[in-house]
Amino acid sequence: MDASSDTAIATLLLDWYDAHARDLPWRARPGSPAPDPYRVWLSEVMLQQTTVAAVKDYFAAFTARWPTVAALAAAEDGEVMAAWAGLGYYARARNLLACAREVAARGAFPDTEDALRALPGLGAYTAAAVAAIAFGRRAVVVDANVERVVSRLFAIEEPLPGSRPAIREKADAITPDARAGDFAQAMMDLGATVCTSRNPRCLLCPIAAPCLARRSGDPGRLPVKAAKKARAVRQGRAFWIERDESAVWLVRRPGSGMLGGMRALPDDGWAARADGSGEGPLAGPWESAGKVGHVFTHFALELNLSVYLGDEVEALEALGAGEGEWWPLDRLDEAGLPTLFAKAARLALAEREDA
Ligand code: ADE
Repeated sequence: MDASSDTAIATLLLDWYDAHARDLPWRARPGSPAPDPYRVWLSEVMLQQTTVAAVKDYFAAFTARWPTVAALAAAEDGEVMAAWAGLGYYARARNLLACAREVAARGAFPDTEDALRALPGLGAYTAAAVAAIAFGRRAVVVDANVERVVSRLFAIEEPLPGSRPAIREKADAITPDARAGDFAQAMMDLGATVCTSRNPRCLLCPIAAPCLARRSGDPGRLPVKAAKKARAVRQGRAFWIERDESAVWLVRRPGSGMLGGMRALPDDGWAARADGSGEGPLAGPWESAGKVGHVFTHFALELNLSVYLGDEVEALEALGAGEGEWWPLDRLDEAGLPTLFAKAARLALAEREDA
């Protein structure tokens, strides 16, 4: 067999996967019947922008609490948002619920890539992954790992993201008709464990022989990435208001903006501003407790934390605070705060201990 032909590459990869597939909770063993589409879909949504290591505990918690798509569809929005806290990219959780409800209403997940693509929140990647992994459909599944493997295998010199169409074409050419789900996951595992960004381990690679980047002697150079613009830094302020030293005022962020639908400390609307403008001094006995930093996709945020030392009713008036709730400090870890606000809360609590 010619080792560089497209079907030969799939064969080499599938043989390698049969021996080396990672054992992951949402997977079926290589070659065995497909796993539950609900678990495949849930894992793929969680794995977007998030590592396998970070996803495992969330996946276990979600499937224990909501074992079926119908159970998830029946959950309250706030419960699901709180369970998602810490995973980031909260639009995923909002779409997750919308999708679960649509699937529950239709009775089951559709089983083609096109029909999956039409569900809320399912982009091209997720639709292809679920079609291949859960339904055995031939679909071309391209995530960042696959982009790296394919860029090297075919020595694609054009920088990302411009090279995406070429990568897709090559990925399509090597995707087999049978076992497309195993093939996709073999590519992902190869990218995660062997064909890594830095120091690829070519000696362990099942497709080292046909790999053009390896032949060139410096496979780690690919894929070339276009220079990124520096991230803007925004300033914001969050407010810590206590009642009776036992509860803190938490709000629910509006549905669709940054961290939408999540519980949070009240703040000054940092997401809308590109600089510190409008950040005048607040009336009343506010004291700075320092700041926390957080990096979002399009900007970095420095969130300054102000603690109110006076009467809490006045503080809420000063903020013009709308709806919220007094949340017990000894149960703060159950509030489901996203990481940014969990950091700010830790800062406030550490300040209290020091005081
Ligand atoms: N990353 C995204 N989906 C994955 C999967 N099914 N297996 C391993 N890594 C992944």
